[in-house]
Amino acid sequence: MRQLAERRDIHIGAAVAYEPLAQEQLYAQILGKEFNLLTPENVMKFELIHPDPERYDFLAADFLVDFAKENAMRVHGHTLVWHQQLPGWVVNGKWNRDTLAEALQAHIAAVVGRYRGRVATWDVVNEGIDENGALRQTFWLKNLGEDYIEQAFRWAHSADPEALLFYNDYGAEEINRKSDAIYQMAQEFLKRGVPIHGIGLQMHITEDNPPDLEKVQRNIHRLGELGLIVHITELDIRIREPVSKAKLDHQAEIYGAILKMCLEEPACQAIVIWGFTDKYSWIPYFFEHYNDALIFDREYQPKPAYLELVEILSEP
Ligand code: XIL
Repeated sequence: MRQLAERRDIHIGAAVAYEPLAQEQLYAQILGKEFNLLTPENVMKFELIHPDPERYDFLAADFLVDFAKENAMRVHGHTLVWHQQLPGWVVNGKWNRDTLAEALQAHIAAVVGRYRGRVATWDVVNEGIDENGALRQTFWLKNLGEDYIEQAFRWAHSADPEALLFYNDYGAEEINRKSDAIYQMAQEFLKRGVPIHGIGLQMHITEDNPPDLEKVQRNIHRLGELGLIVHITELDIRIREPVSKAKLDHQAEIYGAILKMCLEEPACQAIVIWGFTDKYSWIPYFFEHYNDALIFDREYQPKPAYLELVEILSEP
């Protein structure tokens, strides 16, 4: 799959967990062979990489970044500013606007700076806009005020001027209030010279109710017209239990249609799957009665979805 993707000039990635990469040979082998982009699923999140005010823990993130380098994979950093997986010292700290801004800037400078030249693209802000298109009421918005998003992009840019910087969100795949707000924010940032280069569409979707890909394509197209790159950053297609052959085939069709749509849009430069083996997936822990969202099964065998992706990539 990886070689075919490279011929089609698209990045195919997977979110990667530290333990299986460190412990399971097969996991590492398939990852390096089948994908040319790696997103750390958790280990670059604030609570893991910066657990105490004076202490960063880069061990696991370094391990993933080193693996990517050895296997000539691109790294997509995830994520600098998010309201989840924050350490206690941040959420319970005594802050005013200036001291918190200083702490966030220092965090961004340390993390982006460490991986300067090794992480090509960053999710700078994750999930900052709500379903109605307003700024999401998060710890960051409440304590830093409305300009925290652009500030974060500026801080990330000065820590690595070469890195491409993304705003990432879910539920903004089609044209809707959230994706309109993201479009307007990005347009405004570009007008004012805020360093934003891409939009990440997470795409955690279901086999029984997938999005309208024609609308997704229109959304990607309009972002491309602004001069932005688009990545599908966290694709998975969860299946309602019980899983059946028909559902797995339908899931494969959806994976294939998404890839096809992405290949048609010059702005769409990467598809990252949120994991690759159903052995390790966040789905059963977060969505009751759903599972089997990925492209390899629990025994690391390719599923119909994998075969469909290969087939689409093989087309001339
Ligand atoms: C999820 C991970 O997959 C889980 O392992 C973790 O427990 C919670 O976070 N949107 C995101 C990702 O941007 O960071 C989330 O990842 C899934 C939803």
